[in-house]
Amino acid sequence: MSRADLTRRVFLIGFMGAGKTTVGRALARRLGWNFFDLDDVIEQREGRSVATIFAHAGEAVFRRAESDALRWLLQERDTSSDLILALGGGAFVQPENRAMIERAQGTTILLEAPLEELRRRCQTDATGRIRPLAQHEDQFAQLFEARREAYEKAQRRISTKSRTVEQVTETIAEILLAAKPEVKQ
Ligand code: S3P
Repeated sequence: MSRADLTRRVFLIGFMGAGKTTVGRALARRLGWNFFDLDDVIEQREGRSVATIFAHAGEAVFRRAESDALRWLLQERDTSSDLILALGGGAFVQPENRAMIERAQGTTILLEAPLEELRRRCQTDATGRIRPLAQHEDQFAQLFEARREAYEKAQRRISTKSRTVEQVTETIAEILLAAKPEVKQ
């Protein structure tokens, strides 16, 4: 049996403010799986914040660091346990990253919400994290449109509109439990 048969990988995808990190953490607690936030992994590996990488090195350098962090997580880190991974909003848009995710044979889940709700959530984000690509309304809206096609490549789509973290988490847990009845509850 291959590693992929024994352990599971769930990738949470979606635009900034979709709730990937919050839901991912809650889901990992609910299922007893490991949780990683790709932005946190990047910051640890690079020794500086995402906002600092954007400001001092630019987006292209950030995207390289993002792909490197994803590769590390999927290939070099111990892959012997079940994993929930919250991706940054741009990660799934890069074909190289999507190919890695496909090879990891996980489940890709898109968290969706209307543009205005995403904008509001980014503005009221309690983490205080600066999102370099959420600073200008026009750019935010343009990116939202431009990424739609790539996001549609996710295997599952969950609406988070007007739903609590607990409700979204439960919906995803049910999907995963239905697909893999052996998941410990
Ligand atoms: C980005 C989203 C951010 C972070 C970086 C770039 C994007 O993550 O990776 O600021 O391109 O949409 P979140 O989606 O968690 O905010």
